[in-house]
Amino acid sequence: MELTVKSARRYVDEIPAPLAVVGVWGGELSEGGQKLDAKHRGLLSRMLDELRFKGEFAETLLVPTGETFVLLFGLGKKRGANLETVRGAGAKLAAEIAHLGFREAVSETFLADKLGKKEASYALAEGVLLGGYSFQKYKSSPEHKKLRLWLARSNGPAVDRAEIVAEAVNYARNLINEPPNVLNPVALAKRAQELTALGLKVEVWDEKKIQAAEMGAYYAVAQGSVNPPRFIQVVYTPQGKPQRVLALVGKGITFDTGGYSLKPNESMLTMKCDMSGAAAVLGAMQAIAKLQPQLEVRAYIAAAENMISGHAYRVSDVLKSLSGKTIEVLNTDAEGRLTLADAIAYADQQGADSIVELSTLTGACVTALGEKVAGLFTNDARLGREVQEAAERAGEKVWPLPMEDEYREMLESSTADLKNVHGRNRYGGAIIAALFLREFTEKPLVHLDIAGPAYTERPHALGPAGGTGFGVKTLVELVGV
Ligand code: BES
Ligand code: MN
Ligand code: ZN
Repeated sequence: MELTVKSARRYVDEIPAPLAVVGVWGGELSEGGQKLDAKHRGLLSRMLDELRFKGEFAETLLVPTGETFVLLFGLGKKRGANLETVRGAGAKLAAEIAHLGFREAVSETFLADKLGKKEASYALAEGVLLGGYSFQKYKSSPEHKKLRLWLARSNGPAVDRAEIVAEAVNYARNLINEPPNVLNPVALAKRAQELTALGLKVEVWDEKKIQAAEMGAYYAVAQGSVNPPRFIQVVYTPQGKPQRVLALVGKGITFDTGGYSLKPNESMLTMKCDMSGAAAVLGAMQAIAKLQPQLEVRAYIAAAENMISGHAYRVSDVLKSLSGKTIEVLNTDAEGRLTLADAIAYADQQGADSIVELSTLTGACVTALGEKVAGLFTNDARLGREVQEAAERAGEKVWPLPMEDEYREMLESSTADLKNVHGRNRYGGAIIAALFLREFTEKPLVHLDIAGPAYTERPHALGPAGGTGFGVKTLVELVGV
């Protein structure tokens, strides 16, 4: 859907549009609703009573008023409602208005108890823009819907910011939803290069430069595919002196077959999502370029495809990583950590003060936390807290898991400095993977395992099935604009 959200200062009853939306909190008309009710001589409250409209969350009632329509939109109980309620309502509202076929509408800004106008405006606009997303690029006859939505009595700058952030999330979703035959590492690099239009500096290395740079762990993962790897760097430099340098690292496996440790088809079905970390990082860079925070942000993506062929890496291969540490490969399906090892080491060498890395790294993390919550691992309590608080503000769910030193010995190899998996027992796989990554920097590092929330096979509160864009909002909150 082609969707624009515009901020208006006036009340919902003062803005002419074919459809006006007002909230109903547990059976009670909102302030805007009461104004409209008065304008229509009590029609809305009569309808509420006669049809026993309770205003359960996302319950709707379309009321014709003669020349225009009013949509009563249920918001559930007012007590306990929060920003997520408003964001979720926005998403449902976008779908509902599109379904009804209106091309222009005005909605009041839903104010939950204790919610400021600014926060509510932001959450509602963001919800609408995320909820209106769909990916139709490969449909022969795509639905082509257009909607312009006015938000009455809303905060203009908050709506503008929501537009920037939601656009970045939807951009990440588009990258994830692209099929892997289209979005290979070269194509991903091309998409990254387009960000130069926003004033970002983008540098892309081909397979020769990657090999010459001695990124031996990353290179090994990539060598099985006819689609060559691309190492992608995107830099945002603020005007004036940067407060600090933040590195963002995203896992960019454009398709993960597992390699010779081949995945069964069932597990491979969603593996185009294995570049969701990269998508989140690129989405965040897009928003950061527009929001102009006072720190330097550098994104690193070691893009590759994990395939099988006569060139592919094997089980038992020993690789030399950029850090100098050697790694014995005991499972070619634990490829993400190999590519990330070199990307993290490189971010460190380039002078990052702290590193935040996002990856669809382990099925074990999904087993631990389910499909809605990302695992947060860190070697630095302060950076960990910063990221966790950013995620809370963003409405993205993350939960800390321990970097348990006692498990470190499971990564000892008899042949090399490390092995890439912990052998036959599969317990604690998300933690082991995090411990592996910790070997490649001593800088403050946060690892977010987003294997659960990055992709969904069913529609969710803020969008359809497919890539969710998880992580973009957290990163934007983290840079603090
Ligand atoms: N990309 C997968 C992890 C994954 C699983 C992402 C489910 C999204 C949903 C990763 O490369 C992988 O294959 N991990 C292995 C690790 C194992 C071999 C130690 C896994 O989770 O099974
Ligand atoms: Mn894998
Ligand atoms: Zn993977």
